[in-house]
Amino acid sequence: MAMHIQKFKVILFISLFVCVNSWKSCHETFCDRIRARPQGGSRNVKLDFSNSVLKLNNESVQTNLNVEGTSQNLKFKLEVVGDSSFHILIDESTPRYRANKALNEVLPPLKIDPKKNNNNTLVTVTHGNNKALIYSSPFKVEFYNNNTLISIANWNNSLIFKTDTNQREIALDILFPNVQRAYGIPEHADRLTLQNTVSNQPYRLFNVDYGNYRVDSTEALYGSIPVLYAHGIEQSSGIFWLNPSQTWIDVTTSPDDVDAYFMSEDGPLDMYFLMGPTLQQAVMQYTKLTGTAPLPQYFTLGYHQSRYSYMSQDEVTSIVSSFDEYNLPVDVLWLDIDYTDEKKYFTWDPKRFKEPEKLLNDLKKTNRKLVAIIDPHIKNDENYDIHTTSKREGYYVKNPDNTVYSDKCWPGISSWLDFLNPRALDYYANLYARRGFNHSNIHIWNDMNEPAVFNDHEPSFEKTMPLNLIHHENRKHREVHNIYGFYQTVGTQTGLLKNNPNLRPFILTRSHFAGIQRYAAIWTGDNYANWAHLRISLPMCLTEALAGVSFCGADVGGFGGIPDDELYQRWYQAGAWLPFYRGHSAIDVPRREPYLYAEGIQARVRTALHQRYAHLPLWYTLFREHELTGEPVIRPITYHYPKEVDALSIDNQILAGPNVLVAPILEPSISSKKVYLPGGKSQIWYNIDDNNKAFEGSGYHTINVNLNSTPVFYRAGSIIPRKDILRPTSTGTYKDPFSLYICLNSTGEANGTLYVDDYESFQYRKNQFLYITLIFSENTLSSQLKDGATYSPSAKIEQLIILNPPKDIVEVKYTADKESATATSLQYNSEKNLLSITGIAIDLQKKFQIEFSKKNNATIVKLSSWMLVIIITNLMFL
Ligand code: GLC
Repeated sequence: MAMHIQKFKVILFISLFVCVNSWKSCHETFCDRIRARPQGGSRNVKLDFSNSVLKLNNESVQTNLNVEGTSQNLKFKLEVVGDSSFHILIDESTPRYRANKALNEVLPPLKIDPKKNNNNTLVTVTHGNNKALIYSSPFKVEFYNNNTLISIANWNNSLIFKTDTNQREIALDILFPNVQRAYGIPEHADRLTLQNTVSNQPYRLFNVDYGNYRVDSTEALYGSIPVLYAHGIEQSSGIFWLNPSQTWIDVTTSPDDVDAYFMSEDGPLDMYFLMGPTLQQAVMQYTKLTGTAPLPQYFTLGYHQSRYSYMSQDEVTSIVSSFDEYNLPVDVLWLDIDYTDEKKYFTWDPKRFKEPEKLLNDLKKTNRKLVAIIDPHIKNDENYDIHTTSKREGYYVKNPDNTVYSDKCWPGISSWLDFLNPRALDYYANLYARRGFNHSNIHIWNDMNEPAVFNDHEPSFEKTMPLNLIHHENRKHREVHNIYGFYQTVGTQTGLLKNNPNLRPFILTRSHFAGIQRYAAIWTGDNYANWAHLRISLPMCLTEALAGVSFCGADVGGFGGIPDDELYQRWYQAGAWLPFYRGHSAIDVPRREPYLYAEGIQARVRTALHQRYAHLPLWYTLFREHELTGEPVIRPITYHYPKEVDALSIDNQILAGPNVLVAPILEPSISSKKVYLPGGKSQIWYNIDDNNKAFEGSGYHTINVNLNSTPVFYRAGSIIPRKDILRPTSTGTYKDPFSLYICLNSTGEANGTLYVDDYESFQYRKNQFLYITLIFSENTLSSQLKDGATYSPSAKIEQLIILNPPKDIVEVKYTADKESATATSLQYNSEKNLLSITGIAIDLQKKFQIEFSKKNNATIVKLSSWMLVIIITNLMFL
């Protein structure tokens, strides 16, 4: 094994050496021309408020904007949309490309009543508690929530809107007063709190294929979501800069405010001001605009096993057998590019994958699913019909001279489908009707869709398309670069839904843009097997979650490189607490499925997997709640505890929903970990990793850890639904009983939610589900059901675990409708500070009540019933 590893290390070294890329800094792009902002006062940037031009009505404010140095009048429009967000659009009279596909739906303007002042200098727009003051000269807009200033657009009068043919950049700065932090604008391999970029490179949003990326960096990565939150103890708000062209953002933070200066290469100024006034509300306002993720199938939340590449269908089925043999759960097997016939997508290698339907059916028999990769590049091969059709029909992205663009990618010389062309998108979607891809057991991975191009022959290449290529309707690539991959996932979803209209499709994408959550999950691309990459996976996914994309994970173990045993185990433990959980590795590293490791390591991985599977009812409930409300599935601590200064920058811990706090081990060789617990002294947290020991939410605690530890805390006052039987797959747990972990607070109360449906289909959209609110109070657990919904799950609640239980409970009585029953087993465990109740089967469909009676009460109840019997008997003899 050691020799083997040595050999791989050499190969890795060589491949890394060859692949070194240099990414552009601001001064090598348009950013250089505008980063030093035009200095304020003397510039003439003016809104025309004269009566003949200004249009005020109950939907919008519209007028002209004159910018010094711009040859024409720009059009200005302000309206209120979504959840009271102010939308400002500044554009030329011939509209530039607008990325409206990122929005969830056409957003109808909300009713407003704009008022102009007498001397034509100010227009005021009020909506509920929110207000915008639009100043004419110099142009700026102040936003207020409850009369508190939240943000100022163009506060420094440095708006830029260039209209020359080759210089079309735009820029604007926004000041957020009275805040301490900025978050958002993924994707960067950076911490949750954005850096001050004054003496650094600005954050760059430009989708690129960047493996083994630098951490703590403002460099561009695979995805771009231009939403930034300004967050503070007193107030929070945000800006959604809807622009899919290359964008740089200078962030300046001071103890009192945040200034964000957005610079884009093209497009209009298309901005949504999220009014907060809390981070939680600002996030929900953002998802009101761009939508939420549709509830995924249950299996997608299980463990995924991938590798570049599993090389034959026999290999795939034998991996499944090994997982079963070693009692390790796995739901999904992944096929990377080598399953294809010479990297021609929508084909199968005729020898190694000659019976795809058989593979899919075999997997189905053991409840496993398959995910296959489909990249956007099409091999230039005259015998490949997708190529010949796409060429003939004009479905490809073109060169400026209108010839088909081609360059290298995995298959060699390739061309790229122009997903922005509705006909090409439709053609692409229909390709999923092809052999194997129309099977109900297949799901799809869209990779290399930034798009990645192996164009190292080009001067200053960045492994992506030249910006002057031509898309549908003559759009230049630079106008649409960051939304190209997004469109691929739109087509993929259409194709999968056409095949199986009642099955929820699963799609993973690498490239992403705002709104991607409606189509696909994402992962953090080609990370590396080192501690820094394990650590950064948490803030990366937390930031994505705030930007609407909760379904995020990182390659467990690291894609490139060879994790040592400790890192490998820690990654499985931490990865179990990110929403997407997949082991994946590069072509040139040794195989690393968990069963290949020694039993001790395997056992820890098994425990991590088990912990994941036990919490699937919680994850699933959180995903449903995300779909309904826009609340992220994972959250930074500050999301729920904004007043706690120490929590503002914590990003090595995760809240999975409001009730579970996870502090995974992210460093080697440690025997204790400092964990921050929020909520103040009255908030108790139970460490389920260590006998449910209770801790106060009073800040930092030092927790002793060993190789088996993953500190996980349940919040006192919550009820956590679980399924505790370890099965080979999540599908295999459908009928298994639920356990409720009832974590009592100091007043003996707790509550929680549980969502259940058929786990696969869209029937839940026809009210085929149960959404249950669970309330524990005064020693009684009761349920409430969401009205109008029905579903009959076979699983029942068969175990209740009460943490910090009331003493002397001797009887647990269940009533629902006219039925009643008594639990047959009650067990206190003082070491674990719990009471476990079994021998009970609680139907989820019925509203129920469970009374926990203490010794005295129970005796009184029993005595009184005996007395009743005696009285009745006596009466009978009278
Ligand atoms: C890219 C992906 C990686 C995949 C490889 C081959 O590098 O990020 O996950 O294995 O391509 O398809």
